[in-house]
Amino acid sequence: MAVQERQAENSFDRYIAEVRAVWGDGKDPQLPFRVQALMEKLFASTKSDDPWMAEIIRDGKPSRELYRDPDHGFIQMGHVHKQGHANTPHDHGPCWVVYGAFSGVTDITKYKRTDDGSEPSKATLEKERLDRLSAGVVVPYVTGDIHSTHAVEGPGVVFRFLSYDLDKINRSRYSLEKSTIIPVPAR
Ligand SMILES: [Fe+2]
Repeated sequence: MAVQERQAENSFDRYIAEVRAVWGDGKDPQLPFRVQALMEKLFASTKSDDPWMAEIIRDGKPSRELYRDPDHGFIQMGHVHKQGHANTPHDHGPCWVVYGAFSGVTDITKYKRTDDGSEPSKATLEKERLDRLSAGVVVPYVTGDIHSTHAVEGPGVVFRFLSYDLDKINRSRYSLEKSTIIPVPAR
């Protein structure tokens, strides 16, 4: 039975059914913002002792796949990040991502490139914006957005919605110190 036809059992099932309902062909540029609104609604309607969320918190896994859509390929990841958890600037290749904090505080820095792109392995980055994701805050990063994350208060439950499986696409990491691009090829 398709997900949207099933009686939604909890706020997470409802959220997934709602994302599926707005997905269409997956190409609408407004989709990241629709998913943002639905994730905000999910967090507002979920308590930390709801069984599905309580399990995520109790397990405390740094990363787990909560849902993979069999028809559209989008993935909902759930993370429990300890305070201080951080990563280097990266993009999501041709994909987009929606980050949301259910608990804790995560800072996400968005960068812009200041080079002209003429050297394939070089990129100089400048900080463009700092998004502070406190509980309930959800921010989309569209195709090409370079960003890095830092858990400033934790542990925190962080949701990461991926428009597609990142292991199947080519993307990039960036060294701020060396001004270089580090390819992250599909597996
Ligand atoms: Fe990311």
